Amino acid sequence: SGIRQLAAHNDLLPRLRHDNALLRSFVQETLRYDPPVQYGIRVAAQNTELAGVPITRDSVVLVCFGALGRDPARFHDPDSFAADRFLTPESEPRDVLSFGLGAHRCAGAELALVTGEIAFRQLALRVDAIRETEQPQRHTRAVVRRYTRLIVDVTRQ
Ligand code: HEM
Repeated sequence: SGIRQLAAHNDLLPRLRHDNALLRSFVQETLRYDPPVQYGIRVAAQNTELAGVPITRDSVVLVCFGALGRDPARFHDPDSFAADRFLTPESEPRDVLSFGLGAHRCAGAELALVTGEIAFRQLALRVDAIRETEQPQRHTRAVVRRYTRLIVDVTRQ
């Protein structure tokens, strides 16, 4: 997903080389815009109500992380990709809901963010331009989203 965003916004490449804050925000935004894990599962511990929907105790509730990330009440213009969305001073890692939330939030979230930053910094340091050369193909599973084929042309620095 990040590579697709860079192909659509080549101007980000030089900016990501040395701006660590933007790099982190870019990785967070990529995860918000197109979360690799779409759903989480919870079991209701008690009878409750969520957004007007009654939920009885022991019901299994499917939480769509992809929809959380596109919630207009939480994110301005949620269907647009904005690399600097998480650059604001009040933004914090837990704002990215693609790692889930609560006690069972992803245990590897920080590691995943740092790994993403390293990968995209190294890519940005080596490449001046990225261009998609054909329509990418996605894995069709609903829960874990990824590409099965993504062919790009790169111009090396
Ligand atoms: C971009 C990469 C990753 C994404 C998008 C991701 C996403 C998620 C999500 C959505 C959950 C469910 C959270 C919930 O139900 O609230 C989860 C759980 C978990 N993840 Fe990740 N994950 C990533 C990378 C990693 C890595 C690198 C590790 C370990 C090194 C890891 C370890 C775990 C573990 C142990 C849980 C279960 C936590 C629990 O149930 O208490 N994840 N992850």
